[in-house]
Amino acid sequence: MGTVLEVRELTKKYVEGTAESKAVDHVSLDVEEGDFVIIMGASGSGKTSILHLLAGIDTCSEGSIKYTLPDEVRPFRSSRRYRQSGGNRPADLARMNEKEKTLFRRANIGLVFQQQCLIPDLTVYENIMLPLMLDRSRKENASREDKIMNLCGRFGLKEHVGKYPSQLSGGQQQRTAILRSVANHPPLLLCDEPTGSLNSAQTELVMDLLEELNKDGQTIILVTHDIRVAVRGKRVLYIEDGHVEGELDFTEHVPNGAGLHPDSCPDTAGTEAVCTIKEREEKLIHFLQERGW
Ligand SMILES: Nc1ncnc2c1ncn2[C@@H]1O[C@H](COP(=O)(O)OP(=O)(O)OP(=O)(O)O)[C@@H](O)[C@H]1O
Ligand SMILES: [Mg+2]
Repeated sequence: MGTVLEVRELTKKYVEGTAESKAVDHVSLDVEEGDFVIIMGASGSGKTSILHLLAGIDTCSEGSIKYTLPDEVRPFRSSRRYRQSGGNRPADLARMNEKEKTLFRRANIGLVFQQQCLIPDLTVYENIMLPLMLDRSRKENASREDKIMNLCGRFGLKEHVGKYPSQLSGGQQQRTAILRSVANHPPLLLCDEPTGSLNSAQTELVMDLLEELNKDGQTIILVTHDIRVAVRGKRVLYIEDGHVEGELDFTEHVPNGAGLHPDSCPDTAGTEAVCTIKEREEKLIHFLQERGW
């Protein structure tokens, strides 16, 4: 497992008149391939600002955002800077211009927001497959399409693929949006409160889908206020006033199989055992209470 993302001293300042505020304040973090990072923190603490910087939607004031991409992933090939670098990696998003960032994002980052941005005039199938349709040159499109249709079947969308987004529930729309975001197999999926407008049953289904994608190797960073959502991740970063105030890791290294509870979380193969959902909840509540949650 290699490092997908290396963020150093990331800072975003806003200047209003003579006053300067920092929405993101010297954030450093490493994200490994297959990681599932949860970002929590009070409203206004800077969670969305961090995601927007990582996605290249916004521009940082200081710091670096270095992505190390697997060889098979096609980065922003048409970019002059990329060609000039001879294809060297990692790619620093903080040093790219707007066009380069857009190309980079399209090829490498999946984005999911609280409100799904589905195209109303396209069917569910067309929405999901849009990234593949836009890039018909890719050899692996057929196998990606099969994989995505398989996930549609397992997550209750198969019978809805011919419908339009307005004919779906909020949870079905969100699952559609997630599948569209991963259709072209981006190395990183960024989600900003993806369950924020869903009821608890729909939240469970959306998290089941994200957990399944993560088990399949998808690296995810997800912002949430919801403890039941957060416990599905592998670790939680707590943001306060724009900086990382604390981290809670749900994975514990114990000898093979030792200490495994019957309803332990699924990613427990080998020596990396993971505590149960209930244990995670207890740990997380304690962690959050210590921070005045
Ligand atoms: N364009 C802007 N100009 C000035 N300040 C901004 C701007 N955008 C965001 N901020 C400020 O940056 C801080 C962080 O905002 P951000 O949206 O990242 O918070 P958040 O943690 O995502 O909050 P929430 O949980 O409510 O979504 C806030 O104080 C916000 O007011
Ligand atoms: Mg936010």
